[in-house]
Amino acid sequence: MSREFSIEAFQARLATHFVGRRLLYHASLPSTQDVARKEAERGAAEGTTVLADEQTAGRGRLARGWVSPPGANLYFSVVLRPSAAHLRLLVMIWPLAICRAVEEVTSLSARVKWPNDVLVGSRKLAGVLIDSELGDSESDYAIAGIGINVNFDVSPHEEIRRTATSISTELGHEVAREELLAAVLGRFEELYEAARRGDPVHDAWKARLDTIGRSIRVRFGDSAEEGVAEDAGPDGALILRRSDGSRVRIEAGEVTLKG
Ligand code: BTN
Repeated sequence: MSREFSIEAFQARLATHFVGRRLLYHASLPSTQDVARKEAERGAAEGTTVLADEQTAGRGRLARGWVSPPGANLYFSVVLRPSAAHLRLLVMIWPLAICRAVEEVTSLSARVKWPNDVLVGSRKLAGVLIDSELGDSESDYAIAGIGINVNFDVSPHEEIRRTATSISTELGHEVAREELLAAVLGRFEELYEAARRGDPVHDAWKARLDTIGRSIRVRFGDSAEEGVAEDAGPDGALILRRSDGSRVRIEAGEVTLKG
């Protein structure tokens, strides 16, 4: 069943100071990332959130698409204005916030697949895409784009049916998208504010990482590395131990489990 997103129900739940306080809702957009970027360039306040019920050209990491049908999921982009140091933390803060919100609103347990996918069991529930434009000027910004599969049957979608899941698939019933969005933005704001006060976020993120201790293959660009994921550094990089015992540090890539 597809239900319209209620802005009133969302606003009644939202308990943040600035994240999501300005919500720009669209029934359909090519991608919320592009609208949020334009807003940021026009000087939009930090926390401005662009939400679409449907995306016709949703984007994922590594030049992939993001399946974005109407009436089912959450697709949103948040304008942020972090310092360079805090920008690096966004890849940890967002998946952590999504995990906490999913666990608050549902009975599910969520984990993080390095660097910033959210998993339920071994399947992907949510993804995070961070585009940034950081220099020295006042107009610097980062756009955090989040896609969460909520009330969605992945099975007709050939490209994701073996690897993705949704909250309704896992629970056997639908949940209110408004409540989940308010919870994600609330948990994000808490973590972001705490990070800006200097609280460490790395340990909490690492404790959620499903990838540590596993035999994996990581692809990045045209290269790939295989080994055991040994650790994740404070900057978010993955430390992989190769079969010859040497260690390699990987900053970004796509992990697949081996064996
Ligand atoms: C990933 O590959 O895991 C990241 C997926 C990010 C998808 C979201 S949906 C809202 C925002 N708009 C987009 O076009 N992409 C992001």
